[in-house]
Amino acid sequence: MLQIAKSTDRLDNYRLKISEKEFVPIIQGGMGVDISTSELALQIADLGGIGTISDAMIQTVSDKYYATSYTRKKRNTYILNTNKKEKKIVKFDLNDLYEAQSNHIRKTMRNKSGTGDIFVNIMEKLTMNNSMQTLRIRLNAALDSGIDGITLSAGLHLNSFKLMQGNIRFHKAKIGIITSSVRALSLFLRKSKKSKRLPDFIIVEGPLAGGHLGFGSDWKKYNLMTLITEIKTFLTEKKMTIPLIAAGGVFTGSEGITFIKNGAEGVQVATRFTVTKECGLPNSVKQKYFESEKEDIVVNNISPTGYLMRMLKSSPAIGSSIKPNCESFGYILDDNGRCSYVDEYFEHLANSKYMNSFSKMKKTCLCSNMLSFKIWTCGQTTYKLKDTSIKDKNG
Ligand SMILES: Cc1cc2nc3c(=O)[nH]c(=O)nc-3n(C[C@H](O)[C@H](O)[C@H](O)COP(=O)(O)O)c2cc1C
Repeated sequence: MLQIAKSTDRLDNYRLKISEKEFVPIIQGGMGVDISTSELALQIADLGGIGTISDAMIQTVSDKYYATSYTRKKRNTYILNTNKKEKKIVKFDLNDLYEAQSNHIRKTMRNKSGTGDIFVNIMEKLTMNNSMQTLRIRLNAALDSGIDGITLSAGLHLNSFKLMQGNIRFHKAKIGIITSSVRALSLFLRKSKKSKRLPDFIIVEGPLAGGHLGFGSDWKKYNLMTLITEIKTFLTEKKMTIPLIAAGGVFTGSEGITFIKNGAEGVQVATRFTVTKECGLPNSVKQKYFESEKEDIVVNNISPTGYLMRMLKSSPAIGSSIKPNCESFGYILDDNGRCSYVDEYFEHLANSKYMNSFSKMKKTCLCSNMLSFKIWTCGQTTYKLKDTSIKDKNG
């Protein structure tokens, strides 16, 4: 039977234990691109929880904060390719990638205070026109630069442990994975067995989360509490003890406690933090989140990653036909240099003499639109943010 939180209970009465270290049982979820800033993650760590930065579009984020010019250098290298549909030659310089990742993480870690930790969210789906090598660089640069932990996300990560196992911090850093099913988790565990290491934590992400979802079009059928129970049972059967963290739709302390009383050891929360001062979203977008109502939040398939994504239905990126800029960015390109947005864009360009086909774009340019905050991705609870914030006199 479901154990419900008592009204006198507080989340702070509980502790999340990962690899022998205890935390306030809240992980602030990674939010790319630069929505979960270092400033936000550091604040959470200072308060004894776990703050998560994201390495999405790390070279471009590095240019913004540290006056580097990786993006310009990449664009200058491939400038002659900008009008071509074929993007296979547009590769990342792996040394630059390593440098950008290490620099960002080292600088973030240097500013850490308090008793909490800083993790980095590393998405497999950012295939960067060379999936294995770019993932290897990102994971190892994070370990080399002293990150406390890595959250593997947006993908099955069947090779990620292997890509890190030679690193001297592979057994020291806390490494965990986000999963949305027993099946995906079991595949990951089977593949990772050879690395002689279990994940230190498992984030179970349900269908109400923000960003990309680990579910298909039947996402409404799933329920976070059921997933926690299923994964807990699976781990017990396998005689594995790994802390579970509930994510997706956890909005209040009492909701968090309910998950902790029913199999989780902590919660991962993102939407509640999107309107904080430290969050990287521009104020104009935070305002949209405050103004939103339940019916304004949609799940659609405009992301070229192939995953469903939750966002405000007024996001300017929906239907937009911006010219692909893979020569500068190209984070979504697969190993064959393909992205479904690039394909669609050039197909429409070829047909544009005959019709105004750009008004019917099905996919969106994830790189350009995430960078300019035109995809207003958000969790299902976003419409509640107005009730938990104080409205200034000016609105
Ligand atoms: C604005 C936003 C951006 C997100 N971006 C990412 C991301 O880049 N990678 C990822 O693994 N999860 C991402 N997420 C998911 C969160 O890290 C988290 O697991 C989930 O949203 C928790 O649910 P909640 O938002 O209801 O608290 C994002 C969530 C939000 C709200």
